[in-house]
Amino acid sequence: MELDEGLCVTDCERCPRLVDSRSRIVNGVGPADAEIVFVGEAPGADEDEGGEPFVGRSGTVLDDALRDAGLARADVRITNSVRCRPPENRDPHVDERENCRGYLAAELAAIDPEIVVALGKVPAENLLERSVAVTDEAGEVYDARLGETSHRVLVCVHPAATLYDRSQQDTFESTIQQAATLAGEGDGDGSGQARLGEW
Ligand code: URA
Repeated sequence: MELDEGLCVTDCERCPRLVDSRSRIVNGVGPADAEIVFVGEAPGADEDEGGEPFVGRSGTVLDDALRDAGLARADVRITNSVRCRPPENRDPHVDERENCRGYLAAELAAIDPEIVVALGKVPAENLLERSVAVTDEAGEVYDARLGETSHRVLVCVHPAATLYDRSQQDTFESTIQQAATLAGEGDGDGSGQARLGEW
């Protein structure tokens, strides 16, 4: 397995369709000893260009919720189920998730966080290996085994869901707050500094 220090994939050609559609492999970012790891679906256009997960509109939603929970992006690890951008931003196929699963397992094993947050249906189903109704199960914590290690997985709606359905905003924000509480981090009560736009 071509993993750099257990965290970064430096070379991979397991998924021919993704090798064609990607500009680069987008590895996780954040501390190697983070207590919270966020797992998304796959890089989009912004992430493929910038080389970092969640730097587009979804990333702004995530950053805002982190700040409201008293967390900084630099304090948490952010990664994806699949590290290469799928064509036309389609969901990664099952075989592509399988091909990338060992990399995610190695990353989570190396970090050993208090809590893994599954951002949306794809990562929730990838981690829990069953179908997940994310809006119903948001806020639920499950044990998941990946490779040799077990992790506590908190189900969360995808940040992009809040852009299409404003009613998901409260669920999203309270689940991020819950992650901070479970990890013993953040300001503990969700009263993080309000966003400048709200002043
Ligand atoms: N959506 C994801 O699931 N991952 C990203 O990195 C960006 C958007």
